[in-house]
This record gives sequence, structure tokens and C-alpha cells, in this order.
Amino acid sequence: MRIAREFSRHAHQYDSVNVIQKRVIEEMIARIRKEPPETILDLGCGNGGVYRAVDWSLRRFVGVDFAEGMLKRHPKGDEVELIRADLNDSVLFERLKDEKFERIVSASALQWMEDLDGVLGRIAAMHTPVTLAIFTSGTFRTLHRTAGIAPLLRDAEEVEKLLKKHFNAPIETLRYKLAFDSVREMFRYMKRSGVSGGRNLLGYKETKRLMRNYPLNYLEYEILLMHTKR
Ligand SMILES: C[S@@+](CC[C@H](N)C(=O)[O-])C[C@H]1O[C@@H](n2cnc3c(N)ncnc32)[C@H](O)[C@@H]1O
Repeated sequence: MRIAREFSRHAHQYDSVNVIQKRVIEEMIARIRKEPPETILDLGCGNGGVYRAVDWSLRRFVGVDFAEGMLKRHPKGDEVELIRADLNDSVLFERLKDEKFERIVSASALQWMEDLDGVLGRIAAMHTPVTLAIFTSGTFRTLHRTAGIAPLLRDAEEVEKLLKKHFNAPIETLRYKLAFDSVREMFRYMKRSGVSGGRNLLGYKETKRLMRNYPLNYLEYEILLMHTKR
């Protein structure tokens, strides 16, 4: 639940620090819009990034997230149902299994799964078209190397292997660079964005050293995107 707390704690400023997540949603929506679904299940819906980006009419939108602070900020509506639950918990999928959705989406959330294999298996068992965007270890690659710390996220090969195990669709890699005027500003952004998953590996001195030695003026992001056709 450390990650839930981290996301709830940063929920109030999520909209100012989710530049890349917004771009990921744009990519997802561009593909989904080609066959606009009237019913969507959004896993790790956060404060409603996907829902807000949908520009066609929906009959039903079910959003699932375990961070109350994020769900509180999700738009409400007659067609919207929000479920507070942990995606790692198979009980959630039991509860959803009698319902049919035209598409399941998950934007920038599945990288946090303890058992990604199990969660993807349960999603696949719903026999529903999916659009999934998952961050991988290429995110902050240079930062982790400079600091000498292990990446927090799974590498692209591992995520790709798991996606291929459960789905049969092309996988795209999205790479972004987010530039800053100064390294200090970059670190401030990272601190506010809650991307550490609750991990605080670096002390004051180590952070100072990292800020001095970081060789770039941008942060790197790497995301795998898989979209299955209807
Ligand atoms: C980076 S945010 C993305 C939110 C939204 N999908 C978007 O793209 O703007 C990741 C979301 O996943 C949620 N999340 C992470 N792990 C989760 C889990 N095990 N169960 C439910 N939600 C989870 C977090 O609470 C957070 O709201």
C-alpha cells in the first residue's frame, strides 16, 4: 500500500507533473478512437486522465484505482462507476467477470504490479480488446546509472515477454525526453511527481552528488504500448 499512499499524497499536484502520462494517453486515445468503444474499463484510472481524454459518448465507464486521493479527483457522472481496489487482488476480477466491456485500458499503471504476469493473465481472461501502456526501466535510465542504483521498473524485454504470453498484438515502444532549464528544477519535478513508488534511496548528500554529476538536461521515459483490435 506504499504506492497507494505515494499516489494519494501527490494527487493534488498530479495534473502539473504528469506531462508524459498525458502524452501516453494521447497515443492511446488516437488508437482507441478508430473504433470508439461505448463501454470502458480503466485499470489504474487515477484522477481520470483517460476519461477526460475520451471525446465520444460513453454508455459506461468503470475506473479502478487503489489511491483514494486520486479517485476523489476523478470526474463523476451517471455513466461513471469508480471502484477502489488493488489491481493485484484477484477478487477485483471476480467482481468484474460478469460484466462485458468493449475495451479495457490501462495507462501508466501496470508497471507497479507486484505480479504483472498474474494481472495480465486475469485481464486476458476477460476476452476483451485492450489498450495497455506500461512504463519500463528505460525510464530514468541515465539517472539510475549515474546514481548507481538499480532501476525500479521491469525492463522492456521482460514486459514484452509477458505481454506476448497473454496477448497477440504488436507492441510499440514510446520514448520521450522531458527537458528542464536546470538540474535542480528537474529534481523538484521528480520529487513532486510521485514516480519513486515510495522509494527514497538517496540521502541528502547522494542527491547533491547526483545533481552535480547528472550528464543530461532531460529525463528519459520508456513505455511499451499494446493495442489490440476489436
Ligand atoms: C501514473 S498514475 C496514472 C493514472 C492515469 N491512468 C493516467 O494515465 O493519468 C498510476 C495510477 O495507478 C494506480 N495504481 C498503481 N498501482 C495500483 C494497484 N496495485 N491497484 C490499483 N491502482 C494502482 C495509482 O494509484 C495511480 O493512480
